[in-house]
Formats: sequence, structure tokens, C-alpha cells
Amino acid sequence: MIPNKKMEEMLNKQMNAEFYNSHLYMAMAAWFENQNLPGFASWMEVQAEEERKHALKFYNHLKERRGNIKVSQVPQPPANYKNALDVFQSALDHEIAVSKEINKMMEAALAEKDYAAVQLLNWFVSEQVEEEAQTDAVVQQLKMIGESRGSLMYIDRHLAKRKE
Ligand code: FEO
Repeated sequence: MIPNKKMEEMLNKQMNAEFYNSHLYMAMAAWFENQNLPGFASWMEVQAEEERKHALKFYNHLKERRGNIKVSQVPQPPANYKNALDVFQSALDHEIAVSKEINKMMEAALAEKDYAAVQLLNWFVSEQVEEEAQTDAVVQQLKMIGESRGSLMYIDRHLAKRKE
């Protein structure tokens, strides 16, 4: 069933937000590369790929339901951060904001009785719990080590192991 205009707009908006998320994490990866922290950079690259997959989930949902798909321009992501903790704290704050958007969409989908969208959004609700948790785990580690370069290198080696 074709989504109604309101849901179509929301699905497109979130698809484009997820493309932005991918871009944002690539900019964070680039920041870490510039700081010679390849493990952190690699973690961010994997995250950028995940975000692209999120965007494609919305894209394919619209496609399968014959909705009108509108891919928009991607805004410029921030490029300057104070330190690794600043990057991960920004990522966590961003994920919390994404979760709020997903919840808003869920409320709208339920109100519109768009159960196909509810089904899709159920996946995203669980995914957001995971996204927040994995980002918060790194925030907590970075808070714990303070200014220690040795510990930062240790975390860098550990994060390099992240696979999709
Ligand atoms: Fe797709 Fe990290 O939100």
C-alpha cells in the first residue's frame, strides 16, 4: 500500500537524515585519520557503512510501496573536534537525537495506521538501542582514561577490530 503523504514525507526525511549520518561518520573518520588514530577511524568507517544501509532500508521501503522517493542534498558535517571524547560524545548526542526522530515517526505511523511503516520502524527502535549503547561504551572508556596517550592507543587498537 502506498504510504500517505505525511508518512511518505517522514520516510523520505529520515532516509535523507540517514545519508547525512553516513556523511557525518565519514567526517569523523577523516578527523581520526588526521590525528593518526586509524583504529578509531576504521570504527567510524564501519559506522558510516551502517548508516548508508539504514538509508537504503528507507529507500527500499519507499520503493517497494511505490512511494515517491526524494534524495536530497547532504548538508556539510562538522569537521573540527577538540579530542576523541568530543567526537564520541557528539556521536552519542547525535544518536540520541536520531532515536527521538525514530520515536516520533513511530508515533505518526501508529496514528496513521501505517502498519508497514510500524514494522520497519520496529527494527529501527531496536537498532537505536544498539547504536546508543555501542557509542556510549566508547564514551565511557574515553572518560575513564582522561589524558593518557597510552590508553588512547590501546583503545585505538581495540576499535580497529570492529567489523560490520
Ligand atoms: Fe542510523 Fe545511527 O542512526
